[in-house]
Amino acid sequence: MRLLVTGGAGFIGSNFVHQTVREHPEVEVTVLDALTYAGDEKSLAPVADAITFAKGDITDADLVDELVSDADVVVHFAAESHNDNSLSNPWPFVQTNIIGTFTLLEAVRRHGTRYHHISTDEVYGDLELDDPAKFTPETPYNPSSPYSSTKAGSDLLVRAWARSFGVQATISNCSNNYGPYQHVEKFIPRQITNVIDGIRPKLYGTGENVRDWIHVEDHNSAVWAIIERGRIGETYLIGANGEQNNKDVVELILELTGQPRDAYDLVSDRPGHDLRYAIDSFKLRDELGWAPQYENFRDGLAATIDWYTANEGWWRPQKDATEAKYAQLGR
Ligand code: NAD
Ligand code: TYD
Repeated sequence: MRLLVTGGAGFIGSNFVHQTVREHPEVEVTVLDALTYAGDEKSLAPVADAITFAKGDITDADLVDELVSDADVVVHFAAESHNDNSLSNPWPFVQTNIIGTFTLLEAVRRHGTRYHHISTDEVYGDLELDDPAKFTPETPYNPSSPYSSTKAGSDLLVRAWARSFGVQATISNCSNNYGPYQHVEKFIPRQITNVIDGIRPKLYGTGENVRDWIHVEDHNSAVWAIIERGRIGETYLIGANGEQNNKDVVELILELTGQPRDAYDLVSDRPGHDLRYAIDSFKLRDELGWAPQYENFRDGLAATIDWYTANEGWWRPQKDATEAKYAQLGR
C-alpha cells in the first residue's frame, strides 16, 4: 500500500507515521506537510529514513494531484488546529481546512483514491455538564469557533463528494488527544512546560470545562482500524471514555510533578468556550472491534510529562513565542 499522509509533521500525524512504520512496515509512506508553525520535521526524525517527505501546501492543486496520483490511500490530518488562534485570525482556518480539503477531494475524485478524513468531535458543539448524552454519529453539527466550523465545513464537503461523486471516503471524529510531540500551545503540553519553567499553570474561566481525553496512540490505532475495515461512506467517532475537567487535569499535572495541587492561576475565559465534549465510540468498538490500550489517564499523563521533560530540545524553540501570543490575549 502506498499511503499519502497530509499533516504528517504535526502532533497526531507524526505519531501516526511512527506507528505505521513500526506496525505496518509493508506500507510506503509519503508525508505532505507545509511545515507551518505547528509542523516540525524533527518530529519525523526517528523515521526519516523509512518515509518520503514532501514539503508543500494542501491548497497547491498541482502538487496535490501529483502526490495523490502515486497513492493508493490518502489520510488527511493537515489542518489549522488551535481554537485560540482561530479566534485571533480565522482566515488560515478557512484556507487550509476548507480549501485544502476541497483540493484533496478533487484529486482523490480524479484518481479514484481511497480517502480517510480526520476530524474532531468539536463539530458537534458542546454538552451540558450534567447531560447524560454523549456525541454519536447522528448528533447534529453545531460548531462554535472558526476552528470547529471550518472542520465541520470540511466534513460536509467529504460527505457530499462521497454521495454525489462516489469518492471512497470515511470520516473519523475524535476527542481531545494527548501524548508526545503535541505543540506547547495546547492545554496539556502548555501546563507541563509551564511547570518545568517555573510558571504557574493557567486555567481558563473556572476550570470546570470537560474534555474527553484519548492517548494519541489510541486515536491512531482507530484510524488504522477504519482504513483496514471501515465501511465506505461511514463516519466513526473515536473516544476512550476519558472525561476530565480542566481543573482536575491541572491538579494531576501539579501532583505528578511534585508541586502543590493548588499552584495554578485562573485566567480570563476563551470567547465561546465549549463547556463539555463526550464521545460514544460504540460503533467503532462494535463494528470494527477496536479498543483503546491507554485507558489509565494518570499513567498516560505521567508518561507524557516524562517525554516533555526528556525532550526539551524539541519544544523549547516554540515556547517563548507561544507564551508571548498568550500574553497578548491576557491568558
Ligand atoms: P497540528 O496543528 O499539531 O498539526 C497540523 C499539521 O498540518 C502541521 O504539521 C502543519 O504544518 C500541517 N499543515 C497545516 N496547514 C497546512 C497546509 N495548508 N498544507 C499542508 N500542511 C499543513 O494538529 P494535530 O493536533 O496533529 O491535528 C491533526 C488533525 O487531527 C487535524 O485535522 C485536527 O482537526 C484533528 N484532530 C485533532 C485533535 C487534537 O486533540 N489535537 C482531536 C481530534 C481531531
Ligand atoms: P485546547 O488544548 O486548546 O483544546 P480544545 O480547545 O480543542 O479543547 O484546550 C483544552 C481545554 O483546556 C479547553 O477547555 C481550554 C482549556 N485551556 C486552559 O484552561 N488553559 C490553557 O492554557 C489552554 C491552552 C487551554
